[in-house]
Amino acid sequence: MAENERSDLDHAAGRNGDGPAPVKDEAPAQQVAPPLPQPGGGRYAQIVGWGYHVPSKVITNHDLEQIVDTSDEWIRTRTGIEERRVAADPNETTASLAAAAARKALDVADVHPSKVDLIICSTSSPEYIFPATASVVQDAIGAVNAGAFDLSAACSGFVYGLAMARGHILAGDAEYVLVIGAETLSRIVDWTDRNTCVLFGDGAGAVLVAASDVPGGIMATELGSDGSGADMLIVPAGGSAHPASLETVSNGSHFIKMEGKAVFRFAVRVMAEATTKALDRAGLTPDDVDLVIPHQANLRIVQNSVLRQLKIPEDRVFVNLQRYGNTSTASIPIALCEAIEAKKVKPGDNLVFVGFGGGLTWAACAVKWGVPTAAPEVGWWRSTRRQAGYQAAAARSMWRRAVRWMYDVWPADPEEAASGDHEATAPEPKKQVSGSRGE
Ligand code: COA
Repeated sequence: MAENERSDLDHAAGRNGDGPAPVKDEAPAQQVAPPLPQPGGGRYAQIVGWGYHVPSKVITNHDLEQIVDTSDEWIRTRTGIEERRVAADPNETTASLAAAAARKALDVADVHPSKVDLIICSTSSPEYIFPATASVVQDAIGAVNAGAFDLSAACSGFVYGLAMARGHILAGDAEYVLVIGAETLSRIVDWTDRNTCVLFGDGAGAVLVAASDVPGGIMATELGSDGSGADMLIVPAGGSAHPASLETVSNGSHFIKMEGKAVFRFAVRVMAEATTKALDRAGLTPDDVDLVIPHQANLRIVQNSVLRQLKIPEDRVFVNLQRYGNTSTASIPIALCEAIEAKKVKPGDNLVFVGFGGGLTWAACAVKWGVPTAAPEVGWWRSTRRQAGYQAAAARSMWRRAVRWMYDVWPADPEEAASGDHEATAPEPKKQVSGSRGE
């Protein structure tokens, strides 16, 4: 590789004082399990930043006993869940949780938001049908140079997002990609349906994926879908099949509907299969895995798939669903952050992320971790500058809205301007969309 290319990549991976330095692998490059063909040659997609944010409101199983006919004992023994977080404040939305998680990921990586090339926000409870929640986040964090789109693959979405990020980076189309999983499922859960309301929770997790020449990173992915099971886990109304109407609202079709037993059987099968395929592609076996971070839906699913079928021991599987319930696409990144906090991830480790969900979909990826996980020491000046940047993002957003409003008020036709007629039709300034308040 030419020296100038190397320095570009070093810069991209944050090794010029702009992020944590991915650790050089001890093993020579050729001993590392071969990833899929590398379009750029020697270019890898490393996770260099991570963060999560959950609402402060906790709802325990005992709280749910007051709402539906259930019991703490039933929920704990059938699912492993003890409590979940719920966005009780109306200002807490999918975008605001996502933006908070994204800022933390950028802080860990010590990367300025203007360097982000792409934001992928996976969610099943988006801010709106459109625009994309990712665009609201892009505005909120001041990622002024980023493209942004939402990804809909239900609980598998975060791993789908990592696969997209890897593809963009290996193709040379991006240096930094923010992948976010964010949900406010409490807003689409039927709180009178004990089959579903005990399972889900709210939260967001984000990672920053960077181009790097350190071998490893997101090595291999396995994505799958079986749309014949679409109705097994579904929000039936609000889309083009059943647009919102008085009837859809009155019969509760805007809430999550689920065939729990069928989803359970599907999940146990695909978790093991997807993990095996992703590991095969990375040239690894279950024995090589240091930590599995599965989708946090149900402890019994994890036990029946990862532990029993793949025979990966309990101490190499990270579970935190007891405290958050199933946060859908946010569950893997939140669990990754907590695994890092618990010092269960270190450079050189082989990780597996594996998820399943509505679609039906499934996704797994094998990751060779590449960066130190100790809390980075970020200079006060860089940190202050980034925080100021977040405040400036809110001001910038307001300024752009104001300019747009002025264009609306100012008549395009000079004669109209001279007559003063435009004043009568001047529109009200537009309401700011949620999530972009720069919280
Ligand atoms: N509290 C008390 N009883 C409940 C209950 C609750 N919250 N929910 C269901 N029950 C009852 C059922 O009505 C049923 O009663 P019955 O036998 O009198 O008909 C009984 O408990 C057993 O229900 P069943 O559906 O067989 O339980 P289960 O052992 O399959 O567990 C799930 C139900 C939902 C926990 C389980 O099927 C599951 O986790 N499925 C996967 C769901 C999932 O992961 N979805 C998200 C995918 S991303």
